[in-house]
Amino acid sequence: MKIIGFNASPRFTGNGKVISNKVLSMAREKGFDTEFIDLSTAHIKPCQSCNYCKTHAGICILDDDMQDIKRKITDCDAIILVAPIYFSQINAQATVFINRLYSFFQTEYVQKYENGYVVSVNDFNDFEIINSDKLKNIKISIILTQGEKDTTDTEKYIESGLFNQLNLLFDVKDVEILPDNNEPGIVKDKKDQIEVIEKVAKNLITQ
Ligand SMILES: Cc1cc2nc3c(=O)[nH]c(=O)nc-3n(C[C@H](O)[C@H](O)[C@H](O)COP(=O)(O)O)c2cc1C
Repeated sequence: MKIIGFNASPRFTGNGKVISNKVLSMAREKGFDTEFIDLSTAHIKPCQSCNYCKTHAGICILDDDMQDIKRKITDCDAIILVAPIYFSQINAQATVFINRLYSFFQTEYVQKYENGYVVSVNDFNDFEIINSDKLKNIKISIILTQGEKDTTDTEKYIESGLFNQLNLLFDVKDVEILPDNNEPGIVKDKKDQIEVIEKVAKNLITQ
């Protein structure tokens, strides 16, 4: 079993790092293989809306770290995505990452190959067909960390649909907001928030 932790915060010692480390360390204790991917330093270009993926078996024309990340996603069992809220939305690093997952969403190819998505790579001669159920069996949870104490705006943002899109691809388990976290790493001292992180981790790593 494998879990990947994605952290979208650019702050090296920020709360996102604490949160993703906590989830991954609980997963390791349960025997999971773990991988940490820093979305802030990964080279992920924004989607160009070229729709190349729609006519090329889900292959994204952009040749960057996302090719490798998508391969890793197809081989994992669970994902924790941690991101800060900027201007009442998930930050840019997380947005670019989520946008690029769009190339996974290949309904035409699901029909064409009956039960397979085509995993995106940058070379037409180097692709593999995976069962579309495989992605749907990957559990994903999202933890958002923010500065404000009041979570109303972020709750509205979550309800506005972004995470419904993730649910089209994966099995979304939990979406949590951890407020009042402007100080880098402060979340580690908050018992109530650590309990939320532990609950999210348990839901991801319990069979
Ligand atoms: C550009 C920017 C915009 C922000 N906007 C908000 C906001 O709209 N609401 C909020 O509660 N916090 C906001 N914050 C605060 C961050 O969400 C908060 O510090 C968060 O915990 C940072 O996560 P990190 O420690 O993982 O980097 C903003 C921070 C920055 C840098």
